[in-house]
Amino acid sequence: MAKEFKRTTVTAALPYANGPVHIGHLAGVYVPADIYVRYLRLQHKDVLFIGGSDEHGVPITLKAKKEGVNPQVIVDRYHNLIKKSFEAFGISFDIYSRTSSKVHHKIASDFFRSLYDKGEFVEKTSEQYFDEEANQFLADRYITGTCPHCGNERAYGDQCESCGTSLSPTELINPHSAISGKAPVMRETTHWYLPLDKYEPFLRKWILEDHKEWKTNVYGQCKSWLDMGLQPRAVSRDLDWGIPVPIEGAEGKVLYVWFDAPIGYISNTAELLPDSWEKWWKDKDTRLVHFIGKDNIVFHCIVFPSMLKAEGSYILPDNVPANEFLNLEGDKISTSRNWAVWLNEYLEDFPGKQDVLRYVLTANAPETKDNDFTWKDFQARNNNELVAIFGNFVNRAMVLTHKYFEGKAPVMGPLSEYDQATIAEVGDIRKNVESYLDIFRFRDAQKEAMNLARIGNKYLADTEPWKLAKTDLGRVGTILNLSLQIAANLAIVLEPFLPFSALKLRDMLGMKDCNWESLGRIDLLPIGHQTNKPELLFEKIEDAAVEAQVQKLQDTKKQNEVNEFKAAPAKSNIDYELFSKMDIRIGSILEAERVPKTSKLMKLKIDTGIDQRTVVSGIAEQYKPEEVIGRQVCILVNLEPRNLRGIESQGMILMAENADGKLEFIQPSEVVKNGSQVS
Ligand code: MF3
Ligand code: ZN
Repeated sequence: MAKEFKRTTVTAALPYANGPVHIGHLAGVYVPADIYVRYLRLQHKDVLFIGGSDEHGVPITLKAKKEGVNPQVIVDRYHNLIKKSFEAFGISFDIYSRTSSKVHHKIASDFFRSLYDKGEFVEKTSEQYFDEEANQFLADRYITGTCPHCGNERAYGDQCESCGTSLSPTELINPHSAISGKAPVMRETTHWYLPLDKYEPFLRKWILEDHKEWKTNVYGQCKSWLDMGLQPRAVSRDLDWGIPVPIEGAEGKVLYVWFDAPIGYISNTAELLPDSWEKWWKDKDTRLVHFIGKDNIVFHCIVFPSMLKAEGSYILPDNVPANEFLNLEGDKISTSRNWAVWLNEYLEDFPGKQDVLRYVLTANAPETKDNDFTWKDFQARNNNELVAIFGNFVNRAMVLTHKYFEGKAPVMGPLSEYDQATIAEVGDIRKNVESYLDIFRFRDAQKEAMNLARIGNKYLADTEPWKLAKTDLGRVGTILNLSLQIAANLAIVLEPFLPFSALKLRDMLGMKDCNWESLGRIDLLPIGHQTNKPELLFEKIEDAAVEAQVQKLQDTKKQNEVNEFKAAPAKSNIDYELFSKMDIRIGSILEAERVPKTSKLMKLKIDTGIDQRTVVSGIAEQYKPEEVIGRQVCILVNLEPRNLRGIESQGMILMAENADGKLEFIQPSEVVKNGSQVS
């Protein structure tokens, strides 16, 4: 039997305040956490939902440097933006605070000090990279160089984002400082380490034996970390942004961001409930649940629990339902490459459609594996599910009730067998949805909840009450009463998933309360109950709207190709004689036509000043014949003729290839006589 808890503390990973949040954050962490919390609240359980911004760490300082501002400016900007986005999407935090707060600085600092005083840290001196020009030690992220595994020249000191390998800075080939660009030197520095190896036996039992119920992706990752063996982890850094290490002689050192950030959950609770926060963190009857993305698993399942254990007075997480990643149109979401759907931009482009995104992200949630978000799927789920099933059912039930019964819940007459079967299905909804929500399977839970709309939609389509109005109004009343009851059930069961639409539906139905316990009942609206005027819950999303989004992404891709363009490495030298053998002339294009049955090739007639000749060139995908006629070009005239698709090509037109693969003509800057030599 699972333990009965008195209350639940739910946390959602604190996002870094160095950029806006995107759909990947929402799908992986915040929507599932919010669904779970709303579900507990509907059951009248005692629950606290804690969020906030993670405002320390190297990327924030790098961004500040780039903009020439204090890091505080950066975190202020993004903390506010992120907070607003979460509010707009109905992520119902009890508090959304930040790790630059006074309370947090004190609690995190005291936490460190308490472990220090208990002798839980190991102090170690080692050599680390130092930038002599910037006069500072370089955190792993400040060092870039060539990845020893894949040759990517822009690998970071902690990870190569190209091949995904974790690195240590000393592994990088040809390292340089991200601040000054100079090659760093080695210098000695002292730090405090949490000896994770010491907690290994405890962690093995606690996770591998006592928490076999954790999601397989989480359990599996923990097991592989434990099987590899744990090493002591540094919990301090040489940096001037963060919480100062509260020890004498530790000037210039701050707590490692991953040491202070999870303590942020505690401090934010304390900020909300200064007098009673401890029961949410220290009482054995409190259940702690962390919602995170998969890149956070080691910190929440291994490092943070070891810190809590070392401190001694805290409870440990009961579950850590981490998700995998959401991709966007087939590619990994990336902040630096702007490959994302940013929530603030979505809100501008699709005002009032927060529930649609919540719905699609849950329907596609990366619960067991990485998943893909596409705009086409977004449109299809809105049009075919939210509009055609849920919205359509509710609208028909209400419009008909207004048409025949002045909007009042009609009298329920004798029930047909079909009615009874439908009522039985409605009665099953609660346990079906619960069985999934209780084990963090939100996509299946939402599917079950939506199934109720399907049941209602089918019931109306099968019973066709609009055909019976003239002959059997009593029967119409029965059908519509049951339909309204189903709609009322929908307003409850969809509340955790689609809070805005559920509220709108409740208002339309004139429902006063919303209790999870009432789910499945068909007397939610008493006979004669007056409903309000129906309004549409969802509207169709047109092709143009999603095409515009796809275009936006394509533009980003183009821009990235340009930004990431790297010149090909130099070829080896040739002597002048070889070069002088090439006869390059200026000519002009007289005629042009596509080579039939090919997509790339164009047949050109060129006036070279010496003669008129035919050249076949691979430009047909990028230029139309009429665009190139009349242009001056560079042509290599003494290239051995080649046969291309049955046409003899006498020479080669010189082209430059752009970053996005587009070919551009090489032309003289002023018109010169055809036949002029290029040398
Ligand atoms: N900022 C981290 C990230 O985005 C998450 C921090 S979670 C916390 O990956 F527990 F440390 F707060
Ligand atoms: Zn690599």
